[in-house]
Amino acid sequence: MTLAAGSSADGFALRPLAPNIGVEITGVDLSQQLSDKVFVKIRDAFHAHCVILLRGQDLSEADQVDFAQKFGPLARAVNRNSGQSEAYSPSFLISNVRENGQLIGALPDGEMLFHSDQCYVEQPCMAALLYGMEIPSHGGETIFANMCGAYETLPADLAGAIEGRRALNIFEYNEEGGYGRSAMEMYASPPPSARSFAHPIVRTHPATGRKALYVNRGMTLCIEGMSRSDSDALLLRIFDHQEQAQFQYAHHWRVGDLIMWDNRCTIHARTDFPADERRVLRRVTVLGEAPV
Ligand code: SIN
Repeated sequence: MTLAAGSSADGFALRPLAPNIGVEITGVDLSQQLSDKVFVKIRDAFHAHCVILLRGQDLSEADQVDFAQKFGPLARAVNRNSGQSEAYSPSFLISNVRENGQLIGALPDGEMLFHSDQCYVEQPCMAALLYGMEIPSHGGETIFANMCGAYETLPADLAGAIEGRRALNIFEYNEEGGYGRSAMEMYASPPPSARSFAHPIVRTHPATGRKALYVNRGMTLCIEGMSRSDSDALLLRIFDHQEQAQFQYAHHWRVGDLIMWDNRCTIHARTDFPADERRVLRRVTVLGEAPV
């Protein structure tokens, strides 16, 4: 038998999604029981490529949860926007759909700036798994960027300027597009109830040992111990560096796609999409540790 490059006898194969981030895994049906051997290959691909994609999946909530919890304990959250009564579900919807005037999911509309999930809390999540259920005809791409690659290519003066420093991250999202303003723009008119936490600007990935940039345009407000103007100038240079196309993969969603990203070494953003078309994705989140 001849196997295609990157594939194995059990059908498992890897296909890079972009030069510096992301890999598509084929030959795996996540609705079926995974062998330990296949799971280890998936986990290794996740660590090596930061983002994994499995297309053509037909997943119940239980299937998605079962797969996610192989990576660690799951976050349980109430979907604050949904009005759903079921508290502390391991999954929630990301959606613009409104039923009886109520949103059925979180993060409903439009573009989102680059951010790292929960970087404004002490122990941000380790990973998130997003499953495509209803996808608009165009737009609504999720763009991922590799923050190890970004750190490793920082100009020397930038690397020196951020060494050992911490930055304050905040969260403010509202339906009127609060998330469409960068954290730094919100500095001028701060959100009423910002949730915030300061983390190292450079963190070390606990599994791979690689260093990654841990700031982002959407949620990082300022660098601690610097004047506002010095902090803004430095952050803007870092944001421009980390958002370069060379570090990115833009995912064009199809129904049945399961994407999992490593929140410790990536940032992500979302492009705009038609407000009158339905977008529904189911998300499960794996808990993480305090960045060091
Ligand atoms: C998110 O930031 O978790 C949402 C991504 C998306 O809706 O594409």
